Amino acid sequence: MAAIAVLGYGTVGSGVVEVIGENSELIAGRGCSLEVKYILDLRDFPGDKYESLVTHDAEVIFADPEIKVICETMGGTGAAYAFTKRALEAGISVCTSNKELVEKHGAELSAIAAGHSCSYLFEASVGGGIPLIRTIRTGLVAENIKSIYGILNGTTNYILYRMEEQGLDFAAALKEAQEMGYAEKDPTADIEGHDPCRKIAILASLVCGKKVDYSDIPMEGLSDVSLMDLAYARSLGGTIKLIAMCDFEGGKPRAIVSPRVILADNPLKSVNDVFNAALIDSDMLGLSMYYGKGAGKLATASAVVADAVECASTIGKTVKCGWTEEKAEPGDPGELKGQFLVRIKRSALKEAESRFGAAGKICFEKGEAFEKYPVLKGVLAEDAFDDEMALVTPEMSGNEFTDKAAGLEGIIKSIRL
Ligand code: HSE
Repeated sequence: MAAIAVLGYGTVGSGVVEVIGENSELIAGRGCSLEVKYILDLRDFPGDKYESLVTHDAEVIFADPEIKVICETMGGTGAAYAFTKRALEAGISVCTSNKELVEKHGAELSAIAAGHSCSYLFEASVGGGIPLIRTIRTGLVAENIKSIYGILNGTTNYILYRMEEQGLDFAAALKEAQEMGYAEKDPTADIEGHDPCRKIAILASLVCGKKVDYSDIPMEGLSDVSLMDLAYARSLGGTIKLIAMCDFEGGKPRAIVSPRVILADNPLKSVNDVFNAALIDSDMLGLSMYYGKGAGKLATASAVVADAVECASTIGKTVKCGWTEEKAEPGDPGELKGQFLVRIKRSALKEAESRFGAAGKICFEKGEAFEKYPVLKGVLAEDAFDDEMALVTPEMSGNEFTDKAAGLEGIIKSIRL
């Protein structure tokens, strides 16, 4: 029996206690029984089933020699960092869902764990309940990973899905996501792309074995995606998703987070609602895809508990994640090649075609868009497409596209394919 403490009794923390309570026999049958001995929180929880386990005093936990594993579900980089460091220095393993802390201090905390014969595990920090980090760490350990490409944020995926399915505009879809509890009151981290950016930085760091800084990753959020953009994507047989990707050409990570037109032949097109999915391309296996709930109480808690089981089964040892504090030398994400959907004033079309060389042209005549995309009827004005059209460029690098687009005033917007 391993006694554990849960730091933070919010959504994920209460989920951790619930998962252990619900599946305790099953977990024990798989070789390691867990018992929640303490729950640290500033608040009281009168009437809660686990009320008697709540303490406001972290010292009680650190003074108890039975505690060998801590689940940190507080969030943030203040107290969570201090408690995690202190626990690891005392040889107590820590499991977390705290992606902000992992992205910022993951390499340092992993090194501290290694120096004190314990582990720092963070499966739940990326992809919620999907065992993505464990897959990179173990299942793909013999693979040279060439790229990771995925939907790593449930909130924005839900917003885009509702825009696509219901013709809600961005603001209405965001409001709905907040009402459903999928988006925070301050949704900036999700909609501006910070959250998926942190997640791809963590995955890229694990692949490189070196630190990939999220602040080095170019990022475009979702707040600028409109129903018009979705209509153009739909006319190509696609939709728009917020994609976090990184390739490792020449051993240098080139990462970018941005909305992209996802065409019908891409399996990510059918990843809807709050689901996440990642496509990993590796040299021996080829493409593999990981799909599941990327957010939510029990899904995320399940991943924290899986880490707690691994820590409790390896007491006195360090589960290695191969991530050092050395900074990875980043490649230039502007060199990444792809096509671009360019919305353009009709008057500037010829100039745009001669600069980019059009691989395809999309021209909605009056009413045509609404036939192709009935959900837009009544949402966009009949003449919405009168003065503009879109072209799809041939494949080119982001740098090349920026050069060619410079000074072309008729460009309304461009979106990567
Ligand atoms: N807001 C995050 C998401 C929560 O929607 O993916 C899980 O990291």
